[in-house]
Amino acid sequence: MRLIIKEDKTECGDWASAYIADKINNFVPTKERPSFVLGLPTGSTPLPTYKALISLHKSNKVSFSNCITFNMDEYVNLPRSHLESYHTFMHANFFDHVDIKPENINMLNGNAGDKSLSALEAECEAYESKITSCGGIHLFLGGIGPDGHIAFNEPGSSLTSRTRIKTLAYDTIVANSRFFNNDITKVPKMALTVGVGTVMSADEVMILITGHNKAMALHMCIEEGVNHMWTVSSIQEHRRAVVVCDKEATYEL
Ligand code: GLP
Repeated sequence: MRLIIKEDKTECGDWASAYIADKINNFVPTKERPSFVLGLPTGSTPLPTYKALISLHKSNKVSFSNCITFNMDEYVNLPRSHLESYHTFMHANFFDHVDIKPENINMLNGNAGDKSLSALEAECEAYESKITSCGGIHLFLGGIGPDGHIAFNEPGSSLTSRTRIKTLAYDTIVANSRFFNNDITKVPKMALTVGVGTVMSADEVMILITGHNKAMALHMCIEEGVNHMWTVSSIQEHRRAVVVCDKEATYEL
């Protein structure tokens, strides 16, 4: 595992975006894997990376025209058009500013079918199948929660888990209430999320960790043992993992 320490979140975004652009630019299509498949996160952490990728795109340094994307997660029972849906977030902060083809964007639908558990489970299974039919994910980009969760794989999630429905941990609901007028009653209580195993099956995984509130998580995830209570710690067993963090996040190392 590589650990890249940068001065601040902007530098992290610059480094991560240059790395991703380089991977896309040097991608060699094959019959089985004709497009570059990118896994993407939401949250405030990847925003500088998205901004830098947009800027690289606008200066013709990278094109997403042969990229397929799979987002990590989505709230259950939040309308797609809601300001805080991950669908809205991704379009506002990335997709609408680059040349990705709309049909190549994949996001879990937290309102699938009649929103029954079986309809949502079917949505998750179809998502995994689609990833497989694209030949798997080349590079999965992720952030983490302060408790070390990746996507919505809350503490205690199986490290071999695949895409499924998860009930959010109370700490995550509190953390995410900042996007819902600090009202925890407005935060969805369930989400669809790729599993830890889904992320770790990617050829390469890049985790962005910035800010002092992630310092304990960074310590637990890279200096302690692989542990299902800190789900991102499973990157220690990945063959090609890179953690990009800022100085503030290293305070507990
Ligand atoms: C949510 C998302 C995660 C994200 C986390 C941290 O829980 N499901 O994918 O990593 O928030 O978000 P932030 O980067 O805003 O701290």
